[in-house]
Amino acid sequence: MTTQNPKYRPFPAVKMTHRTWPDRVIKQAPTWCSVDLRDGNQALAVPMSVEEKIEFFELLVKLGFKEIEIGFPSASQIEFDFARRLIDEKRIPDDVWVQVLVQCKEELIARTFEALQGCPRAILHLYNSTSPAQRRITFGIDKQGVIDIAVRGTKLVKERVSSVPETKIRFEYSPESFFATEVEFALEICEAVGEAWGYTEAEPIIFNLPSTVEMSTPNHYADMIEWFITHQKYPERAIISLHTHNDRGTGVAATELGMMAGATRVEGTLFGNGERTGNLDIVTVALNLLTQGVDPELDFSRLPAIREIYERTTKLEVPPRWPYSGDLVFTAFSGSHQDAINKGLKDRTAHPDWSWEVPYLSIDPHDIGRSYRAIIRINSQSGKGGVAYVMEQEFGYQLPKAMHRDFGRIINREADRLGEELPPEDILKLFKDEYLDREEPRKLASETVRQSREGDQVEIEATILIFNLVTKKSDSIEIIKGRGNGPVDAFVKALIKSGVEPFEVVSYSEHSLGSGAEAKAVAYFEIKAGPGPSVFGAATDTNIEVASLKAILSALNRVPK
Ligand code: KIV
Ligand code: ZN
Repeated sequence: MTTQNPKYRPFPAVKMTHRTWPDRVIKQAPTWCSVDLRDGNQALAVPMSVEEKIEFFELLVKLGFKEIEIGFPSASQIEFDFARRLIDEKRIPDDVWVQVLVQCKEELIARTFEALQGCPRAILHLYNSTSPAQRRITFGIDKQGVIDIAVRGTKLVKERVSSVPETKIRFEYSPESFFATEVEFALEICEAVGEAWGYTEAEPIIFNLPSTVEMSTPNHYADMIEWFITHQKYPERAIISLHTHNDRGTGVAATELGMMAGATRVEGTLFGNGERTGNLDIVTVALNLLTQGVDPELDFSRLPAIREIYERTTKLEVPPRWPYSGDLVFTAFSGSHQDAINKGLKDRTAHPDWSWEVPYLSIDPHDIGRSYRAIIRINSQSGKGGVAYVMEQEFGYQLPKAMHRDFGRIINREADRLGEELPPEDILKLFKDEYLDREEPRKLASETVRQSREGDQVEIEATILIFNLVTKKSDSIEIIKGRGNGPVDAFVKALIKSGVEPFEVVSYSEHSLGSGAEAKAVAYFEIKAGPGPSVFGAATDTNIEVASLKAILSALNRVPK
């Protein structure tokens, strides 16, 4: 049996006989309006300075925003001054509309128009609260009282338009706390405002329907948007705009469902800055569109640089797991994820023209200025594939598949011991310590390798330095000789002849490292000596044959005694 906690009540769903939004697909970007410099800025512990706002404004313009709310000029001198700087210094590009917010109060409206003198284009954004709680608790007025405030405010704005003859004015009205408002009443007040403004098809009003505080699941918000749109007297006279906050953590979802429900304009901020849990994160919604093949009409191809400006000017930090922009978004810790990503990226290289399909990566990090190099980091949970991936991507070593497990185990053991993840440089160091520089007790004095061929037989003579494992000093030299059907075979035979425990080569591979005169070769050998498991070795040299002989010694030096 379920019980209802009387302290809270369920959200009253809109009565819909049928809804169409669940079947719709978003095929086009909305008109974006940034409210970073108003809703975002007002929610900062340390609001931005005018200089920082100018930098942010210029960033927004560069990203492609055509509508930018620049503040609440009647609320403070700094907001007023910022508007003036933009206008006086002619910083507003020809295709950009600046937007200013104001309450329905005569003196504030008058001051707002003062701030707009000489501005080429502006959206005047008027709002008042409409929800039952705001009517009853904050203002102590009824529905008609709320309508009267909005209509009076609208008329005051209309009267002032002639005071800015150089400015093309558009009008936006927000029934603040729309999500908590009876939808029929929200429509009634918006239509009263529309009539007072004199909205037309040629010059539509913007009805901005905010989820000032998220009240319920995003489907309820979408229902309200669809209901509002389909019940308007003059739908062609209004642009429906969304403005979601994130109190329940679903601001992005609410906006996306609201767009499916027919809204064509979206207000929000970069990285979701804003009151309480923040506004809608426009970066996320825009990049979600991109991943569906829809042009977001905003340029987030240099996301780390955008984030840097955001963090510096707002003094906020983007959390590490924030969609698209967080530090850890393109990092896989789990071995199976790493393996799948590794395969996915290889597949991508083979089919660069196919649509993006890489497991665990919803977007190509390059498209937003992030790099593949950060994708895989290694900790004790990482799989062998991840380690091999780092070795190849970071340092060019293509470890043979059989060797992945061997080196992966070494890395996991070290990460476990340290209790932290290993950066790529530490992985390379372990590879060197374990394989490339494994030169005790036997080290090839490589310049002394001599070969001669007789028919299909090769004879080899090599000088081996023997190291004392305790003193780590070379205490003797051995000259070994052997014959075989190639240098490797001859070298193995020479070693065995010199008294090394018999062993055989199980597998080997080699490739070049880098290119040009400086290029080196790397060789990997797997040998089997005695009843234990096979053992791997690796070595580099400018001479590929010498690299092979050194790699055999590396493996031999690693055979457990
Ligand atoms: O969240 C909100 O309701 C607002 C309004 C002023 C649009 O920011
Ligand atoms: Zn808001």
